[in-house]
Amino acid sequence: LCVALLFGGMSSEHEVSRVSAGTFVDHIDPEKYELLKIGITKEGRWLYTEATSAQMADGSWEELATNMPCVISPDRADHGMILFTPSGQVEKLHVDAVIPALHGLWGEDGTVQGLLELAGIPYVGCGVLASAACMDKAVANALFEQGGVPHCPWLSFTRWQLQADPEGIRAQLEEKLGYPIFVKPANAGSSVGISKAANAEELKAAIDLALVHDKKLVFESFVDGQEVECAVIGSEPAVSTRPGEILAGAEFYTYDDKYKNGVSQVVIPARLSEEKLDEVKDYAVKAYTALGCEGLARCDFFVERGTGRVLINEINTLPGFTPISMYPKLMEHDGLPVPQLIDRLIALALE
Ligand code: DAL
Ligand code: MG
Repeated sequence: LCVALLFGGMSSEHEVSRVSAGTFVDHIDPEKYELLKIGITKEGRWLYTEATSAQMADGSWEELATNMPCVISPDRADHGMILFTPSGQVEKLHVDAVIPALHGLWGEDGTVQGLLELAGIPYVGCGVLASAACMDKAVANALFEQGGVPHCPWLSFTRWQLQADPEGIRAQLEEKLGYPIFVKPANAGSSVGISKAANAEELKAAIDLALVHDKKLVFESFVDGQEVECAVIGSEPAVSTRPGEILAGAEFYTYDDKYKNGVSQVVIPARLSEEKLDEVKDYAVKAYTALGCEGLARCDFFVERGTGRVLINEINTLPGFTPISMYPKLMEHDGLPVPQLIDRLIALALE
């Protein structure tokens, strides 16, 4: 089978994606699959590349002389990828499935999935609607509520609303949520643009920062809890692992912690009672199903200190696949090492 791997992309998680994709390069079974690698630069250029996982990770892949511009053609008659060779020829390559190893906007949010639907190429992971719904925290929170998956108190406002009535909105936030308040762009990823406001002054600064990233914001009350995450795979039925736990190195789990400082640690299973582990696992399947996920997703929760309440935080439809990432570690812990996990994900895409 010919599998195309997409990596990089235009989001703030470009660098993480290059490392996640390297896991697929290093662990996919070369006897079973011919792997075509397509890097997407931060500017959005699509390049076919013969880069190694190390060249992908350090960014040097972009400079390789053997790279060739390419596109996934939305024309079904093309059956996949079109390469523009240096000699000016156009070469068509049949693609059986795509692994979009992309995180965040323009990759995890349904946009690339829409292109692949048009092209008629099966792909790993969630479809257009679930991808888009999970990327938008306001839409996701509403669907969690609808699906009976508890979430901490939250509110959402657009830039226009925030500018039209800042005082009224501040009063609503203080009344429903109370400080500290987490301020998040509705559509982002990996903690970019998120801050925690302890008072009205910090709230204003947090809103200004978040509005740099999106024109719709989500406000959430602070949950003092353990951060636990489940890996879910398949659909009909979806199966979840029990949760693992993130031991955060900073006040909360930031982008730098995750991918630069290496201070965060993962504990599998999470430090919870047997009953609680199962409760979180059941909520993971419920949340995944409520948002229409397919293929895979990682469902992230808080278990509140004191009350033990399980509260969903978010679903990542294309979770990190780096060597420190929770999703592959949870699957491996449950008996599915990365090479077999890749087989399973491709088989699910082809179903
Ligand atoms: N968005 C990052 C990659 C994650 O959730 O793992
Ligand atoms: Mg994310």
